[in-house]
Amino acid sequence: MKTTINQSPKHLGETVTIGCWLLQKRGNNNIQFLQLRDGTGFIQGVVVKANDEALFEVAKDLTQESSMYVTGLIKEDDRSSFGYEMEVTAIEVIQRAENYPITPKEHGPEFLLDNRHLWLRSKRQFAVMNIRNQIIKSTYDFFYDNGFKKIDPPILTSSSPEGTTELFHTKYFDEDAYLSQSGQLYAEAAAMAHGKVFTFGPTFRAEKSKTRRHLIEFWMIEPEMAFYDHEDSLKVQEEYVTYLVQNVLEHCKLDLEILDRDVSVLEKIKTPFPRITYTDAIELLKEKGYTDIEWGDDFGAPHETEIANHFELPVFITNYPKEIKSFYMPENPEDPRTVLCADLIAPEGYGEIIGGSERISDYDTLKERIEAHNLDLDAYQWFLDLRKYGSVPHSGFGLGLERTVAWLSGVKHVRETAPFPRLLNRLYP
Ligand code: 4AD
Ligand code: MG
Repeated sequence: MKTTINQSPKHLGETVTIGCWLLQKRGNNNIQFLQLRDGTGFIQGVVVKANDEALFEVAKDLTQESSMYVTGLIKEDDRSSFGYEMEVTAIEVIQRAENYPITPKEHGPEFLLDNRHLWLRSKRQFAVMNIRNQIIKSTYDFFYDNGFKKIDPPILTSSSPEGTTELFHTKYFDEDAYLSQSGQLYAEAAAMAHGKVFTFGPTFRAEKSKTRRHLIEFWMIEPEMAFYDHEDSLKVQEEYVTYLVQNVLEHCKLDLEILDRDVSVLEKIKTPFPRITYTDAIELLKEKGYTDIEWGDDFGAPHETEIANHFELPVFITNYPKEIKSFYMPENPEDPRTVLCADLIAPEGYGEIIGGSERISDYDTLKERIEAHNLDLDAYQWFLDLRKYGSVPHSGFGLGLERTVAWLSGVKHVRETAPFPRLLNRLYP
């Protein structure tokens, strides 16, 4: 009977056939241990020369990443890291792979990225993609369970919610168009129709940043809630992030193990998250010896890491100066130099994973801000309309999928968290 590796525990004591690839093998002249993978998991196949000499020769001759159907008896085995093994009785090679480029030795990141289409098969990369997949599933579960509807914003747009410096320009027949930086503005329109919505799609930033936190193309989850103020939105954020952490811990045990992730730091995460205002964070940084930073400056990666290390939990930095934030954020009534916003900084140096704010709901105020940012009023007329016909207080935020995957997986660089990362100077494969 044909089955898959993850189903093999159900076939204990039975002989089954699995379509798979050879990850690695080891052994000697009497026994061969085949590490097999099929996309659902890993299992060790054992071939003993004394049992079947012809089969043993086939096994011994197998090369890394050869594809095959392997038939054998499923047995429990505590010594195997997978818990089960297969006593192989037949091997039908589909294709013998010659000179697979990614060998068990160390390779540099550029080589691995050039071979991303193959690198995805490695155990580590398999684990990271499983965690990404779990975060995607838990995102849908969380928002659907909490009464949100998914709304798909366009990718080709005429607006630039996060500023004009990082826009991907393209032509839309005779018009100028941009690849979406954020679905937020459209989510705001949808929230006025559906109350609580979320977007989940690719977004693009033509950022000339070559850091371990920046991708050119990344996926963002952007919830938007009518009648929610800034405070209400922070609650949704901490509940959502905690839900993601718990689900990854629960459903990705083997993946976290493959990645050697220290889960004790994730197990500590619970609501409420600590908060610090931008102004207090500046003071904190000065106390910690950052003499160069002044009120009004944006934080760089080292500053965020310093603040995160101080709390050892995801931390909200609230109320940034108006000048360094987007046009749609309302003034903070308690300190009008600042706005009603927060960034959520992940622990362990993973940086900002969420940016969010309340939204300006007053027509004239928003119009002034659009003009002050030198944005084209015509392109934003529809957005202003939302403040004309039954405007309500509303808030939202955006969580970067890849940075969240990096943090939960414990991988240092976001390039390992997208199946085919788009990086500065990398469009291949
Ligand atoms: O802080 P950002 O720019 O916020 C927005 O786009 C808002 N419109 C969201 C909203 O309120 N609806 O981006 C949000 C998040 C960041 O916190 C980060 O996690 C991720 O998106 N992000 C990136 N991830 C990878 N590479 C990049 N270049 C990223 N830029 C932002
Ligand atoms: Mg941000």
